[in-house]
Amino acid sequence: MKKALIVYWSKTGNTEKVALAIKEGLENAGVQVQMKKPEEAENIDFFDYNLVCVGAPSYSWHLPEPMTNFLKKKFVVYRQQGKVKPSAPKVPGKNALIFVTYSGPHTGIDEATPVGKDMRQFFEHIGFTVIDEWYILSEFHGSVENSTKGRMGDIRGKPTAEELLRIKKDAEDVAAQLV
Ligand SMILES: Cc1cc2nc3c(=O)[nH]c(=O)nc-3n(C[C@H](O)[C@H](O)[C@H](O)COP(=O)(O)O)c2cc1C
Repeated sequence: MKKALIVYWSKTGNTEKVALAIKEGLENAGVQVQMKKPEEAENIDFFDYNLVCVGAPSYSWHLPEPMTNFLKKKFVVYRQQGKVKPSAPKVPGKNALIFVTYSGPHTGIDEATPVGKDMRQFFEHIGFTVIDEWYILSEFHGSVENSTKGRMGDIRGKPTAEELLRIKKDAEDVAAQLV
């Protein structure tokens, strides 16, 4: 049975909704899934899984501090273990999926891509194959202005149930790509 780990950080629930949709999709496809917050995953070895999904919101177009610190600590450990190698050779069977929720009030998706690329680099440095980066437009809870007057228009209620269903289906497709 294929094994997946989902590590996510979420303050107002959007990223958690996406994480749950991914979990459901992977489980539908027969993958065994563990879901953790960064503080619960410090002693978990990513190399024990076929797929590691990591998700976070965009905060001032950066990765929020708890996720940055988590990945930095992990990177130190993997470097000490000799798993960060020149040319970053791929480790067969080790895959990652990146997901970022964002509201894009000022410049749209460009506020989210640095977050996804940052997490992607972590996984590429340790030889994982990054299957995809998903950017999910989400309501800016606590700010009606940023949820209605921003670059992305009226984003209240996002991600919708329909969008979450799509994510679930996409996660099933990711499961089918695992070797
Ligand atoms: C402190 C703070 C800073 C944010 N900065 C940005 C930003 O720079 N760009 C953006 O697109 N969204 C920004 N957002 C919106 C969040 O990324 C978005 O609402 C996200 O889905 C929240 O995820 P969560 O519900 O899982 O915590 C910010 C939200 C907060 C609370």
